[in-house]
Amino acid sequence: MTSSKIPTMGDLIKLDRQDPLNWTRDEFEIPNIRACGGEGDGEAIYFCGNSLGLLNKKARQHMIEELDVWGTSSVTGHFNHPHKRPWKHVDEPLTPHLAKIVGAKESEVAHSSTLTSNMHNLFTSFYRPTKQRWKIVIEKGSFPSDWYAVHSHPKLHEAILSQQQIDEAIIGLEPREGEDTLRTEDILRVIEENKDTISIVWLPLVQYYTGQLFDIASISPKVHSIGALLGLDMAHGIGNVECKLNEWGVDFAVWCTYKYLNSGPAGIGGFYIKDGLDDGGRRLAGWWGNDSATRFQMLPSFSPTPGAKGYQHSCTPVLSSIPLLATLQLIDKVGFTNMLEKSKKLTGTLEKLLKSSKYYNPPDGKVGFKILTPEHPYRGTQLSVSLLPENQGVMPRVFSRLLKDGLVGDERYPNVIRLSPVVLYNKFEEVGRAFEILERALKAEEEGARVGEEKDLDMVSKD
Ligand SMILES: Cc1ncc(COP(=O)(O)O)c(C=O)c1O
Repeated sequence: MTSSKIPTMGDLIKLDRQDPLNWTRDEFEIPNIRACGGEGDGEAIYFCGNSLGLLNKKARQHMIEELDVWGTSSVTGHFNHPHKRPWKHVDEPLTPHLAKIVGAKESEVAHSSTLTSNMHNLFTSFYRPTKQRWKIVIEKGSFPSDWYAVHSHPKLHEAILSQQQIDEAIIGLEPREGEDTLRTEDILRVIEENKDTISIVWLPLVQYYTGQLFDIASISPKVHSIGALLGLDMAHGIGNVECKLNEWGVDFAVWCTYKYLNSGPAGIGGFYIKDGLDDGGRRLAGWWGNDSATRFQMLPSFSPTPGAKGYQHSCTPVLSSIPLLATLQLIDKVGFTNMLEKSKKLTGTLEKLLKSSKYYNPPDGKVGFKILTPEHPYRGTQLSVSLLPENQGVMPRVFSRLLKDGLVGDERYPNVIRLSPVVLYNKFEEVGRAFEILERALKAEEEGARVGEEKDLDMVSKD
């Protein structure tokens, strides 16, 4: 298959046969069309790993083992575990994998809590505003939880900040007029324009709505040159794209594991703190952040574990941690570089097919779609398809048709359907079938629009 040729279904089946990672799909449970709300039986085309990753078969096995240990050994499972995963140290087999996957040292990584709570935890320690430097930079289109979270922090510093400073604390980044994604040069310009007042720049590694991968390597030196800190939301980055937190010099970061790492619904999150990052003595303490050597001595004084783990609060939730192990081990076996190679091909194939559609970039007012996501290398697996005409209910109608035909993506209001062919369990053939389903849905939408126009005309002629 040459790079410019539009692949046929035969080409895609051949790509699956030749794919050195084609065996990993069998490691997962593939959802059923009808159970997902579609019509018909058989395996759904699951392009929604950006939201909730699929169940790894080994994760099911690990969960059953944990329930058995709970049932038979009860509290002693914390210390004696027949599968050598004592609950007291359940994070131990996970941390080395997580550190590797985010590009950090083990001492810089904690496996803990959930993304937004971790964000609040780290902002409490590292957002240390002064009267001169108190602003937080964040994209206006950020995930709402991040937006709400950053707005809540300046208010906690009323003793230092005036009401006007609190009101002006957030600098919202926006794409240029007529553009969908942020340009790195514009982020750098905003940082330069506010260089004396910025405390923290908070960005996603991969943007949830557009799928844009931010150029952190270029942004980080600028943030540090003005004396601010750089924090990252890696929800859509971890397990999807290459993360080099140490090399990029990121100060702190948070993530969830239920998307590309398949820990299960609302599974556990984690965070990274650059070694030696100064919290000025501001830390929310809990017993799980205490040095594990003295934790169970129940002492009144808090003696934190050095590094990121010293910022943990509670004992690690075992049942939302264990499912993660299976996928982390699988990634280690497969090699993340090999995954990136396949990801580029898989999503590149979807992009090529989408761009060959007659519905791609239609004339004004006509039914179709545009792609918000930038081209490789500024993206991971996700392509965000924005339905046109905008804000006229096209997106939810098309989305229901996709679901009915067995294609599970996800809808993000107002106009986007996110489609993510995931390396570990999606096939090239599915990319082709997903494209056919989308084409059918758009055709039905177009026909519906035509009937609507005819009805309108009819009404006008009767007036
Ligand atoms: C980009 C992003 N940030 C934050 C969150 C919130 O995560 P949590 O509910 O685990 O706090 C999500 C959830 O999907 C997300 O996609």
